[in-house]
Amino acid sequence: MSHLTPFSTALRERSTTAHSGSESAGFMADLINGKGTRDDYVALVVQHWFIYEALEGAADRMRRDPVASVFITDKLTRMPALEADLEFLIGADWREQVAPLPTTQRYVDRINRVAATWAGGFVAHHYTRYLGDLSGGLFIGRLMKRRFGFDTNGIGFYVFADIADPKEFKEVYRDQLDAAPWDDGEKDRVIEEVLLAYRFNTELFEDLARAKAEAAA
Ligand code: HEM
Repeated sequence: MSHLTPFSTALRERSTTAHSGSESAGFMADLINGKGTRDDYVALVVQHWFIYEALEGAADRMRRDPVASVFITDKLTRMPALEADLEFLIGADWREQVAPLPTTQRYVDRINRVAATWAGGFVAHHYTRYLGDLSGGLFIGRLMKRRFGFDTNGIGFYVFADIADPKEFKEVYRDQLDAAPWDDGEKDRVIEEVLLAYRFNTELFEDLARAKAEAAA
């Protein structure tokens, strides 16, 4: 890894292809281009709930870690919004209606295993979700709002009420990535974990498409 390239830049460059793969997954593309249904959207929110339960549970455990704790802030916390969204979208008994898809379960297992023991791995998963939520996520939220006529109920997950300037927030986050005390080997391991996180996200879209096809059959 070149010492002239900031880590955050190397990370973005080395994950560009993986990002395109996630972004263009059929299930996601259909939601974006208007072919996805409200039920498809709800199915995605459900899987997010399982993923963020693991991610934010891991954040609670990492709050005392000197490296990981720099990235952790309540401004990012998504669980209350996800639960409010699910109550609105499914109803008061939503907890009895939800289950993780196979990829979600593998993703959650990985977050639980990695985040308990390895700050760099925790940061990799934290970065892949929250920087995405603050980028394409904001655009997706606005689209879903328009398409399904949501006000704020139903898309709370995409609304970061405590982050006034997402662009600036992401710049600070990237500065923090660049300041992390990681040697080249550790930087490589963090990037590999980000690529793995992207793979889970892409495979989750494939699971969602499969579940939809099975439900229709
Ligand atoms: C249709 C779906 C998606 C769209 C339209 C989209 C769009 C974007 C855009 C425009 C950016 C650049 C923002 C910037 O330069 O500040 C971005 C960044 C990012 N996206 Fe996505 N994205 C999508 C899906 C995803 C998914 C599924 C993930 C993974 C969970 C993801 C993770 C990320 C990350 C981590 C970044 C930050 C890259 C960096 O600057 O380091 N995105 N996305």
